Amino acid sequence: MAFDRFGRNINYLRISLTDRCNLRCVYCMPEDMTFRPRSELLQDDELARLVRLFSGLGFHKFRLTGGEPTVRANVVQLVATMAATPGVEKLAMTTNGLLLDRLAQPLADAGLQRVNISIDTLDPHKFKKLTRWGEVEDVWRGIRAAEAAGLEIKLNAVVVRNYNDGEDVVDLARLTLYQPWQVRFIEMMPFGDVADFQLSGVVTQAELQETIAGALGELRPVNQGVLDGEASLFQLDGAPGKIGFISSISQPFCASCNRARLTADGRLRLCLLREKEVDLMTPLRAGATDEELEAIIKKGIWWKPWGHGLAQDVIPLNRVMSEIGG
Ligand code: 5AD
Ligand code: SF4
Repeated sequence: MAFDRFGRNINYLRISLTDRCNLRCVYCMPEDMTFRPRSELLQDDELARLVRLFSGLGFHKFRLTGGEPTVRANVVQLVATMAATPGVEKLAMTTNGLLLDRLAQPLADAGLQRVNISIDTLDPHKFKKLTRWGEVEDVWRGIRAAEAAGLEIKLNAVVVRNYNDGEDVVDLARLTLYQPWQVRFIEMMPFGDVADFQLSGVVTQAELQETIAGALGELRPVNQGVLDGEASLFQLDGAPGKIGFISSISQPFCASCNRARLTADGRLRLCLLREKEVDLMTPLRAGATDEELEAIIKKGIWWKPWGHGLAQDVIPLNRVMSEIGG
């Protein structure tokens, strides 16, 4: 098992399969974003090897992210390889859903269990504004395909002031009255060049709770308010679904963090919001043995930062979100 120096057992790896995306959400990347040459990204065999090494170190939960993980070539084969790796118990994906229409079933057949699908508003015009060109109907098609394929579904919405902070939030929350889904509202986090925009548009959980309760009635805490992963969960009266808040800024959950991240270019990122990274790509391509790589990973995890420094105005500048994966 892998522990950090604060005694946290790190057993959940989020892997960015690519920095590319078929959208350009305003809170995620600049419109003129440039991407890395594919040769700088972890190749399929390198990813398979790292997943085997991480699972050997006690990691049992893996999430594939991006950019947009479904735009990676061979994503179905990659999922099949990872799902078949001994020790991999939970395999999930965070996706914008656009390609799930044709990929949900093959991914489920390959061993994917869950998808978190991003949908920030149900309003087609606002969806286009937030994503710069996306069609919300395509996401719905993806959601329906994921459902038909038997994947467990969560919906994610990043809330941005003056974009989707009003009735959009209420409409999304209302879905839980009819569907057994978890609909989660995510506080926007600041990264790199987009940080000023992000910080000026944060909408806190307290405000969202008030907006939702004002329109749809009381939000009852689920599980006495104990976090489900990183989300605090609530339920509307009689609702089959749940409403979650992921409030990295107003209510940090660093103390219980059990995750590490692997960037598409092969760096082990210890905290989403800290610049510190450990280079795995260079030793991997220089012919390091499994034992050597394991030692590098273990040492990196040991030095995982305690938590983010947003309260002290420390913002990670070395990457934007799409290069790390949510
Ligand atoms: N803050 C919070 N979440 C973000 N995401 C992208 N950018 C940000 C940000 N600045 C989320 C997406 C998606 C996942 C990949 O990360 O909405 O759910
Ligand atoms: Fe793409 Fe997701 Fe970033 Fe939007 S948030 S640009 S869908 S990676």
